Amino acid sequence: MIGTVIYLDHHATTPCDPRVVEAMLPYFTEIFGNAASITNAHGRKASMALEDARVAVARFFRVLPPEIYFTAGATESNNIALNLVRPGEHFITSATEHKSIVVPANGWPNAAPRSPSSRRTPKG
Ligand SMILES: Cc1ncc(COP(=O)(O)O)c(C=O)c1O
Repeated sequence: MIGTVIYLDHHATTPCDPRVVEAMLPYFTEIFGNAASITNAHGRKASMALEDARVAVARFFRVLPPEIYFTAGATESNNIALNLVRPGEHFITSATEHKSIVVPANGWPNAAPRSPSSRRTPKG
């Protein structure tokens, strides 16, 4: 095992499957439009590809395409999830959650105080 590096943070990032890289290559080189700008041909091509991907992912998970959100990262995903919480609904989190959850949740008008058991000890 000497000299062998074992990467243990696949929760944060993972190597990309070569099949994914191959499928994505055209979108880094040829089909590079802004999918949100469908007023031009580049954007329409990108938008069509995105919607095809949304349908494929939805089929895989057996959900409806509008239920699939593509995001750029975890903070954006967390933000979408927080915005889905409706008035009167409960949202439970902990002090150890990422700040992209804790900071907005603590700012909500009815945010309850943290329970002592969820507080970090001086040693973390
Ligand atoms: C639980 C959690 N939320 C949010 C983030 C922030 O991720 P991003 O930089 O993709 O917004 C991280 C990053 O490590 C995380 O672990």
